[in-house]
Amino acid sequence: MDVLILGSGGREHALCTKVQHSKIVENVWVSPGNAGTEMTAKNVDLPLKDAKAIRNFIVKENIGLVIIGPEAPLAEGLADQLQAFQELNEVRILGPGKSGARLEGSKSFAKEFMFKYQIPTAQYREFTLDNLEEGIRYLESYPGPYVLKADGLAAGKGVIISENTAEAKKSLSEMLEGQFGAASKKVVVEEFLDGTEFSVFILTDGINYQLLPEAKDYKRIGEGDTGPNTGGMGSISPVPFFKGELKERLIKEIVEPTLVGLQKEKIPYCGFIFFGLINHRGAPKVIEYNCRLGDPETQAILPRIDSDLVSHIISVIDGKPGPEMQISPNSSAAVIAASEGYPGSVEKGKPISGLEDISDSYVFHAGTKMEGKQIMTNGGRVLAISSLAKKPEEAVAKSYENMNKICYEGITYRKDIGKDILN
Ligand code: AMP
Ligand code: GLY
Repeated sequence: MDVLILGSGGREHALCTKVQHSKIVENVWVSPGNAGTEMTAKNVDLPLKDAKAIRNFIVKENIGLVIIGPEAPLAEGLADQLQAFQELNEVRILGPGKSGARLEGSKSFAKEFMFKYQIPTAQYREFTLDNLEEGIRYLESYPGPYVLKADGLAAGKGVIISENTAEAKKSLSEMLEGQFGAASKKVVVEEFLDGTEFSVFILTDGINYQLLPEAKDYKRIGEGDTGPNTGGMGSISPVPFFKGELKERLIKEIVEPTLVGLQKEKIPYCGFIFFGLINHRGAPKVIEYNCRLGDPETQAILPRIDSDLVSHIISVIDGKPGPEMQISPNSSAAVIAASEGYPGSVEKGKPISGLEDISDSYVFHAGTKMEGKQIMTNGGRVLAISSLAKKPEEAVAKSYENMNKICYEGITYRKDIGKDILN
Protein backbone atom coordinates (compact mmCIF):
# COMPACT_ATOMS: atom_id res chain seq x y z
CA MET A 1 0.00 0.00 0.00
CA ASP A 2 1.14 3.53 -0.73
CA VAL A 3 0.62 6.19 1.93
CA LEU A 4 0.29 9.98 1.74
CA ILE A 5 1.06 12.01 4.87
CA LEU A 6 0.01 15.66 4.88
CA GLY A 7 2.13 18.16 6.85
CA SER A 8 5.71 19.33 7.12
CA GLY A 9 6.77 19.15 10.75
CA GLY A 10 8.70 16.83 13.03
CA ARG A 11 5.45 15.00 13.74
CA GLU A 12 5.07 14.19 10.06
CA HIS A 13 8.70 13.04 9.69
CA ALA A 14 8.23 10.77 12.73
CA LEU A 15 4.97 9.43 11.25
CA CYS A 16 6.71 8.92 7.91
CA THR A 17 9.52 6.95 9.57
CA LYS A 18 7.07 4.75 11.49
CA VAL A 19 4.86 4.17 8.46
CA GLN A 20 7.93 3.17 6.43
CA HIS A 21 8.65 0.45 9.01
CA SER A 22 5.34 -1.20 8.19
CA LYS A 23 5.52 -4.45 6.22
CA ILE A 24 2.35 -3.59 4.31
CA VAL A 25 3.60 -0.23 3.06
CA GLU A 26 5.50 0.30 -0.18
CA ASN A 27 5.83 4.01 -0.97
CA VAL A 28 5.35 6.95 1.36
CA TRP A 29 4.66 10.46 0.11
CA VAL A 30 4.75 13.53 2.34
CA SER A 31 3.24 16.86 1.38
CA PRO A 32 4.82 19.34 1.58
CA GLY A 33 7.33 17.53 3.83
CA ASN A 34 10.84 18.72 4.72
CA ALA A 35 14.44 17.73 4.00
CA GLY A 36 14.13 14.70 6.29
CA THR A 37 11.12 13.27 4.48
CA GLU A 38 12.72 14.12 1.13
CA MET A 39 15.72 11.95 2.00
CA THR A 40 13.81 8.87 3.16
CA ALA A 41 10.44 9.15 1.40
CA LYS A 42 9.07 11.25 -1.47
CA ASN A 43 7.96 14.85 -1.12
CA VAL A 44 5.18 16.37 -3.19
CA ASP A 45 3.97 19.93 -2.93
CA LEU A 46 0.18 19.74 -2.83
CA PRO A 47 -1.81 22.77 -1.73
CA LEU A 48 -3.43 21.58 1.53
CA LYS A 49 -6.42 23.86 0.94
CA ASP A 50 -7.14 22.33 -2.45
CA ALA A 51 -8.98 19.03 -1.90
CA LYS A 52 -9.33 18.46 -5.66
CA ALA A 53 -5.58 18.66 -6.22
CA ILE A 54 -5.07 16.19 -3.36
CA ARG A 55 -7.75 13.90 -4.82
CA ASN A 56 -6.08 13.95 -8.23
CA PHE A 57 -2.75 13.00 -6.70
CA ILE A 58 -4.30 10.19 -4.64
CA VAL A 59 -5.94 8.75 -7.74
CA LYS A 60 -2.84 9.17 -9.92
CA GLU A 61 -0.52 7.51 -7.43
CA ASN A 62 -3.03 4.91 -6.25
CA ILE A 63 -2.64 5.96 -2.61
CA GLY A 64 -4.38 3.60 -0.18
CA LEU A 65 -4.07 5.58 3.06
CA VAL A 66 -3.99 9.31 3.77
CA ILE A 67 -2.87 10.60 7.18
CA ILE A 68 -3.67 14.24 7.89
CA GLY A 69 -1.05 15.49 10.39
CA PRO A 70 -1.81 19.10 11.43
CA GLU A 71 -4.93 20.66 12.92
CA ALA A 72 -5.55 23.46 10.39
CA PRO A 73 -6.62 21.28 7.42
CA LEU A 74 -8.68 19.10 9.78
CA ALA A 75 -10.48 22.14 11.20
CA GLU A 76 -11.16 23.34 7.66
CA GLY A 77 -12.85 20.04 6.83
CA LEU A 78 -10.29 18.42 4.53
CA ALA A 79 -11.15 14.92 5.77
CA ASP A 80 -14.85 15.47 4.91
CA GLN A 81 -13.96 16.88 1.49
CA LEU A 82 -11.74 13.92 0.61
CA GLN A 83 -14.33 11.45 1.87
CA ALA A 84 -16.99 13.05 -0.31
CA PHE A 85 -15.16 12.22 -3.55
CA GLN A 86 -16.63 9.07 -5.12
CA GLU A 87 -13.23 8.20 -6.61
CA LEU A 88 -11.81 7.95 -3.09
CA ASN A 89 -14.40 5.48 -1.74
CA GLU A 90 -11.78 2.79 -1.32
CA VAL A 91 -9.12 5.10 0.10
CA ARG A 92 -8.67 5.15 3.88
CA ILE A 93 -8.45 8.62 5.38
CA LEU A 94 -7.20 9.18 8.93
CA GLY A 95 -8.27 12.38 10.64
CA PRO A 96 -11.60 13.66 11.93
CA GLY A 97 -14.01 15.75 9.90
CA LYS A 98 -14.80 19.36 10.63
CA SER A 99 -17.31 18.52 13.39
CA GLY A 100 -14.83 16.32 15.31
CA ALA A 101 -11.98 18.79 14.81
CA ARG A 102 -14.02 21.36 16.75
CA LEU A 103 -12.73 19.64 19.90
CA GLU A 104 -9.54 21.55 19.09
CA GLY A 105 -10.82 24.26 16.76
CA SER A 106 -13.12 25.89 19.32
CA LYS A 107 -12.19 26.10 23.00
CA SER A 108 -15.72 27.23 23.69
CA PHE A 109 -17.18 24.12 22.02
CA ALA A 110 -14.71 21.88 23.89
CA LYS A 111 -15.62 23.42 27.27
CA GLU A 112 -19.34 23.09 26.64
CA PHE A 113 -18.81 19.48 25.56
CA MET A 114 -16.80 18.66 28.68
CA PHE A 115 -19.36 20.21 31.01
CA LYS A 116 -22.21 18.42 29.24
CA TYR A 117 -20.50 15.05 29.64
CA GLN A 118 -19.05 15.77 33.10
CA ILE A 119 -15.46 15.46 31.97
CA PRO A 120 -13.20 17.08 34.59
CA THR A 121 -11.80 20.41 33.43
CA ALA A 122 -11.30 23.95 34.77
CA GLN A 123 -14.34 26.15 35.48
CA TYR A 124 -14.79 28.84 32.84
CA ARG A 125 -16.75 31.77 31.45
CA GLU A 126 -16.69 33.09 27.91
CA PHE A 127 -16.80 36.64 26.60
CA THR A 128 -17.10 38.56 23.33
CA LEU A 129 -16.83 42.30 22.62
CA ASP A 130 -20.57 42.48 23.35
CA ASN A 131 -20.09 41.59 27.02
CA LEU A 132 -16.54 42.88 27.54
CA GLU A 133 -17.68 44.93 30.57
CA GLU A 134 -19.01 41.80 32.22
CA GLY A 135 -15.68 40.12 31.46
CA ILE A 136 -13.76 42.94 33.12
CA ARG A 137 -15.96 42.71 36.23
CA TYR A 138 -15.49 38.92 36.23
CA LEU A 139 -11.69 39.31 36.26
CA GLU A 140 -12.01 41.83 39.11
CA SER A 141 -14.08 39.34 41.12
CA TYR A 142 -11.21 36.98 41.97
CA PRO A 143 -7.48 37.33 42.61
CA GLY A 144 -6.08 35.25 39.72
CA PRO A 145 -3.94 33.79 38.25
CA TYR A 146 -6.05 34.30 35.13
CA VAL A 147 -6.09 32.02 32.10
CA LEU A 148 -7.35 33.64 28.90
CA LYS A 149 -7.80 31.52 25.78
CA ALA A 150 -8.65 32.57 22.25
CA ASP A 151 -11.59 30.44 21.15
CA GLY A 152 -10.15 29.50 17.74
CA LEU A 153 -6.88 28.10 16.39
CA ALA A 154 -3.93 30.42 17.06
CA ALA A 155 -0.93 28.20 16.28
CA GLY A 156 -0.39 27.40 19.97
CA LYS A 157 -0.07 31.09 20.89
CA GLY A 158 -3.65 31.90 21.90
CA VAL A 159 -3.35 31.30 25.64
CA ILE A 160 -2.35 34.10 28.00
CA ILE A 161 -1.72 33.42 31.68
CA SER A 162 -1.40 36.37 34.00
CA GLU A 163 -1.09 36.84 37.77
CA ASN A 164 -2.08 40.47 37.57
CA THR A 165 -5.66 41.77 37.35
CA ALA A 166 -4.83 44.94 35.38
CA GLU A 167 -2.72 42.96 32.91
CA ALA A 168 -5.45 40.33 32.49
CA LYS A 169 -8.07 43.03 31.86
CA LYS A 170 -5.84 44.60 29.21
CA SER A 171 -5.24 41.20 27.60
CA LEU A 172 -8.96 40.44 27.51
CA SER A 173 -9.67 43.71 25.68
CA GLU A 174 -6.76 43.24 23.28
CA MET A 175 -7.75 39.67 22.46
CA LEU A 176 -11.38 40.59 21.82
CA GLU A 177 -10.24 43.50 19.67
CA GLY A 178 -8.49 41.06 17.35
CA GLN A 179 -5.01 40.27 18.78
CA PHE A 180 -5.31 36.78 17.28
CA GLY A 181 -7.60 37.78 14.42
CA ALA A 182 -10.91 35.95 14.18
CA ALA A 183 -9.60 33.29 16.60
CA SER A 184 -9.95 35.66 19.57
CA LYS A 185 -13.33 37.20 18.80
CA LYS A 186 -14.50 35.00 21.61
CA VAL A 187 -12.34 34.41 24.69
CA VAL A 188 -12.63 31.67 27.29
CA VAL A 189 -11.52 32.75 30.79
CA GLU A 190 -10.58 29.71 32.80
CA GLU A 191 -9.84 28.77 36.37
CA PHE A 192 -6.07 28.33 36.81
CA LEU A 193 -5.13 24.75 37.68
CA ASP A 194 -1.78 23.96 39.23
CA GLY A 195 -0.10 20.62 38.71
CA THR A 196 2.09 18.68 36.32
CA GLU A 197 1.01 18.54 32.70
CA PHE A 198 1.11 15.41 30.58
CA SER A 199 -0.44 14.21 27.34
CA VAL A 200 -2.33 11.07 26.46
CA PHE A 201 -3.19 9.96 22.93
CA ILE A 202 -5.73 7.57 21.51
CA LEU A 203 -6.35 6.24 18.03
CA THR A 204 -10.09 5.85 17.66
CA ASP A 205 -12.99 5.21 15.30
CA GLY A 206 -15.21 7.10 17.72
CA ILE A 207 -16.23 3.90 19.51
CA ASN A 208 -13.21 1.65 20.00
CA TYR A 209 -9.83 3.02 20.85
CA GLN A 210 -6.17 2.13 21.23
CA LEU A 211 -4.15 3.88 23.91
CA LEU A 212 -0.80 5.12 22.62
CA PRO A 213 2.20 5.81 24.86
CA GLU A 214 1.78 8.95 26.95
CA ALA A 215 4.25 11.85 26.97
CA LYS A 216 5.33 14.98 28.73
CA ASP A 217 6.05 18.06 26.65
CA TYR A 218 8.39 20.92 27.60
CA LYS A 219 6.56 23.96 26.30
CA ARG A 220 8.62 26.95 27.41
CA ILE A 221 11.66 28.14 25.49
CA GLY A 222 13.84 28.50 28.59
CA GLU A 223 15.39 26.01 30.97
CA GLY A 224 13.48 25.46 34.20
CA ASP A 225 10.24 26.18 32.29
CA THR A 226 10.88 29.87 31.86
CA GLY A 227 10.21 32.33 29.04
CA PRO A 228 7.52 32.28 26.39
CA ASN A 229 5.51 29.26 25.32
CA THR A 230 6.62 27.47 22.16
CA GLY A 231 5.19 24.62 20.11
CA GLY A 232 7.27 22.40 22.42
CA MET A 233 11.03 22.12 23.03
CA GLY A 234 11.24 18.44 23.90
CA SER A 235 9.28 15.50 25.17
CA ILE A 236 9.72 12.32 27.10
CA SER A 237 7.81 9.08 27.32
CA PRO A 238 6.71 7.31 29.50
CA VAL A 239 5.51 9.71 32.20
CA PRO A 240 6.46 8.04 35.49
CA PHE A 241 3.39 9.11 37.48
CA PHE A 242 0.95 7.96 34.79
CA LYS A 243 -0.03 4.61 36.27
CA GLY A 244 -2.36 2.96 38.78
CA GLU A 245 -5.29 5.06 39.96
CA LEU A 246 -4.42 8.13 37.88
CA LYS A 247 -4.40 6.04 34.70
CA GLU A 248 -7.63 4.27 35.64
CA ARG A 249 -9.32 7.59 36.39
CA LEU A 250 -8.09 9.03 33.11
CA ILE A 251 -9.75 6.18 31.21
CA LYS A 252 -12.99 6.18 33.19
CA GLU A 253 -13.44 9.91 33.73
CA ILE A 254 -11.97 11.36 30.55
CA VAL A 255 -11.27 8.99 27.64
CA GLU A 256 -14.45 6.92 27.77
CA PRO A 257 -16.84 9.84 28.46
CA THR A 258 -15.26 11.74 25.56
CA LEU A 259 -16.11 8.89 23.18
CA VAL A 260 -19.61 8.57 24.66
CA GLY A 261 -20.07 12.33 24.22
CA LEU A 262 -18.99 12.18 20.57
CA GLN A 263 -21.42 9.34 19.94
CA LYS A 264 -24.29 11.11 21.70
CA GLU A 265 -23.59 14.29 19.74
CA LYS A 266 -23.52 12.16 16.56
CA ILE A 267 -20.04 13.40 15.75
CA PRO A 268 -18.19 10.79 13.70
CA TYR A 269 -14.54 10.62 14.66
CA CYS A 270 -11.78 8.63 13.03
CA GLY A 271 -8.30 9.68 14.00
CA PHE A 272 -6.15 10.59 16.94
CA ILE A 273 -7.36 12.43 20.02
CA PHE A 274 -4.68 14.19 22.06
CA PHE A 275 -5.75 14.83 25.64
CA GLY A 276 -3.71 17.71 27.12
CA LEU A 277 -3.99 16.99 30.84
CA ILE A 278 -2.94 18.25 34.19
CA ASN A 279 -2.42 16.14 37.28
CA HIS A 280 -4.24 18.53 39.62
CA ARG A 281 -3.86 17.33 43.21
CA GLY A 282 -3.89 13.68 42.13
CA ALA A 283 -6.86 14.02 39.76
CA PRO A 284 -6.55 14.22 35.96
CA LYS A 285 -8.24 17.23 34.38
CA VAL A 286 -8.41 18.23 30.73
CA ILE A 287 -6.53 21.39 29.75
CA GLU A 288 -7.32 20.96 26.09
CA TYR A 289 -8.22 18.51 23.37
CA ASN A 290 -6.32 18.32 20.10
CA CYS A 291 -7.65 16.50 17.06
CA ARG A 292 -4.23 15.16 15.98
CA LEU A 293 -0.95 13.96 17.43
CA GLY A 294 1.32 16.43 19.25
CA ASP A 295 4.60 17.88 18.09
CA PRO A 296 7.14 17.05 19.65
CA GLU A 297 5.24 14.34 21.58
CA THR A 298 4.97 12.21 18.43
CA GLN A 299 8.76 12.16 18.10
CA ALA A 300 8.97 10.51 21.55
CA ILE A 301 5.93 8.22 21.49
CA LEU A 302 6.09 6.62 18.04
CA PRO A 303 9.52 5.03 18.61
CA ARG A 304 7.94 3.23 21.62
CA ILE A 305 5.25 1.52 19.53
CA ASP A 306 6.51 -1.98 18.74
CA SER A 307 3.53 -3.22 16.74
CA ASP A 308 2.69 -2.11 13.19
CA LEU A 309 1.13 1.36 13.40
CA VAL A 310 -0.31 1.12 9.90
CA SER A 311 -2.12 -2.13 10.73
CA HIS A 312 -3.63 -0.43 13.78
CA ILE A 313 -4.68 2.56 11.68
CA ILE A 314 -6.33 0.31 9.12
CA SER A 315 -8.18 -1.65 11.82
CA VAL A 316 -9.47 1.58 13.30
CA ILE A 317 -10.59 3.05 9.96
CA ASP A 318 -12.33 -0.21 9.09
CA GLY A 319 -14.06 -0.23 12.48
CA LYS A 320 -12.57 -3.61 13.37
CA PRO A 321 -10.71 -3.42 16.66
CA GLY A 322 -7.51 -5.34 16.05
CA PRO A 323 -4.92 -6.60 18.53
CA GLU A 324 -3.81 -4.23 21.27
CA MET A 325 -0.91 -1.93 20.46
CA GLN A 326 2.42 -3.30 21.70
CA ILE A 327 4.28 -0.66 23.64
CA SER A 328 7.96 -0.89 24.43
CA PRO A 329 8.99 -0.75 28.09
CA ASN A 330 11.91 1.41 26.99
CA SER A 331 12.03 5.15 27.57
CA SER A 332 12.38 7.78 24.94
CA ALA A 333 13.48 11.39 24.92
CA ALA A 334 13.13 13.91 22.10
CA VAL A 335 15.09 17.16 22.23
CA ILE A 336 14.24 19.97 19.82
CA ALA A 337 16.85 22.19 18.20
CA ALA A 338 15.36 25.56 17.25
CA SER A 339 16.62 28.66 15.47
CA GLU A 340 17.88 31.66 17.41
CA GLY A 341 14.98 33.95 18.33
CA TYR A 342 12.32 31.22 18.37
CA PRO A 343 9.39 31.50 19.28
CA GLY A 344 9.78 35.01 17.85
CA SER A 345 10.98 35.71 14.34
CA VAL A 346 14.02 33.76 13.14
CA GLU A 347 16.50 33.82 10.30
CA LYS A 348 16.28 30.87 7.96
CA GLY A 349 18.72 29.40 5.48
CA LYS A 350 21.61 28.40 7.79
CA PRO A 351 23.54 25.32 6.64
CA ILE A 352 23.27 22.37 9.06
CA SER A 353 26.26 20.09 9.62
CA GLY A 354 26.94 17.01 11.72
CA LEU A 355 23.84 15.06 10.69
CA GLU A 356 25.94 12.23 9.29
CA ASP A 357 27.62 11.73 12.69
CA ILE A 358 24.40 10.89 14.55
CA SER A 359 24.36 7.32 15.80
CA ASP A 360 21.72 5.28 17.59
CA SER A 361 19.17 8.12 17.64
CA TYR A 362 16.49 9.32 15.26
CA VAL A 363 16.79 12.72 13.62
CA PHE A 364 13.30 13.98 12.92
CA HIS A 365 13.40 17.07 10.73
CA ALA A 366 10.93 19.96 11.10
CA GLY A 367 11.97 23.34 9.68
CA THR A 368 14.58 22.09 7.19
CA LYS A 369 14.96 22.16 3.45
CA MET A 370 17.36 20.83 0.90
CA GLU A 371 19.35 23.20 -1.28
CA GLY A 372 21.28 21.07 -3.73
CA LYS A 373 22.92 18.55 -1.42
CA GLN A 374 23.04 20.87 1.60
CA ILE A 375 20.39 20.76 4.33
CA MET A 376 19.42 24.24 5.54
CA THR A 377 17.33 25.56 8.42
CA ASN A 378 13.89 26.64 7.29
CA GLY A 379 11.87 27.56 10.37
CA GLY A 380 11.62 28.09 14.13
CA ARG A 381 11.86 24.49 15.22
CA VAL A 382 14.50 22.83 13.06
CA LEU A 383 14.80 19.21 14.11
CA ALA A 384 14.46 16.76 16.99
CA ILE A 385 16.93 14.18 18.19
CA SER A 386 14.99 11.30 19.62
CA SER A 387 16.47 8.32 21.44
CA LEU A 388 15.24 5.10 22.98
CA ALA A 389 16.98 3.40 25.90
CA LYS A 390 16.25 1.09 28.81
CA LYS A 391 16.28 3.93 31.31
CA PRO A 392 15.04 7.49 30.85
CA GLU A 393 18.39 8.96 31.86
CA GLU A 394 20.10 6.92 29.15
CA ALA A 395 17.60 8.09 26.52
CA VAL A 396 18.12 11.72 27.54
CA ALA A 397 21.92 11.32 27.58
CA LYS A 398 21.92 9.73 24.12
CA SER A 399 19.81 12.55 22.67
CA TYR A 400 22.14 15.20 24.09
CA GLU A 401 25.27 13.34 23.03
CA ASN A 402 23.98 13.37 19.46
CA MET A 403 22.62 16.91 19.68
CA ASN A 404 26.16 18.09 20.49
CA LYS A 405 27.25 16.88 17.05
CA ILE A 406 24.74 19.09 15.22
CA CYS A 407 25.92 22.50 14.20
CA TYR A 408 24.28 25.54 12.60
CA GLU A 409 24.42 29.26 13.28
CA GLY A 410 22.09 30.16 16.16
CA ILE A 411 21.30 26.59 17.27
CA THR A 412 19.13 26.79 20.39
CA TYR A 413 18.00 23.93 22.59
CA ARG A 414 17.05 23.31 26.18
CA LYS A 415 19.61 21.38 28.21
CA ASP A 416 17.11 20.19 30.82
CA ILE A 417 14.65 18.00 28.93
CA GLY A 418 13.59 15.16 31.23
CA LYS A 419 15.57 16.53 34.16
CA ASP A 420 12.50 16.90 36.37
CA ILE A 421 11.56 13.23 36.04
CA LEU A 422 15.08 11.95 36.58
CA ASN A 423 15.27 13.36 40.11
P1 AMP B 1 -3.62 25.12 25.75
O1 AMP B 1 -3.31 25.71 24.40
O2 AMP B 1 -5.06 25.16 26.12
O3 AMP B 1 -2.96 23.78 25.94
O4 AMP B 1 -2.83 26.03 26.80
C1 AMP B 1 -1.46 26.27 26.67
C2 AMP B 1 -0.78 26.12 28.00
O5 AMP B 1 -1.34 27.03 28.96
C3 AMP B 1 -1.01 24.74 28.63
O6 AMP B 1 -0.11 23.80 28.17
C4 AMP B 1 -0.80 25.06 30.09
O7 AMP B 1 0.57 25.15 30.40
C5 AMP B 1 -1.39 26.43 30.24
N1 AMP B 1 -2.79 26.33 30.68
C6 AMP B 1 -3.88 26.26 29.90
N2 AMP B 1 -5.00 26.19 30.64
C7 AMP B 1 -4.63 26.23 31.93
C8 AMP B 1 -5.33 26.20 33.17
N3 AMP B 1 -6.65 26.16 33.22
N4 AMP B 1 -4.61 26.24 34.29
C9 AMP B 1 -3.26 26.31 34.25
N5 AMP B 1 -2.53 26.36 33.12
C10 AMP B 1 -3.20 26.31 31.97
N1 GLY C 1 3.18 20.01 21.71
C1 GLY C 1 1.88 20.52 21.76
C2 GLY C 1 1.09 20.44 20.54
O1 GLY C 1 1.42 19.73 19.60
O2 GLY C 1 0.06 21.09 20.47
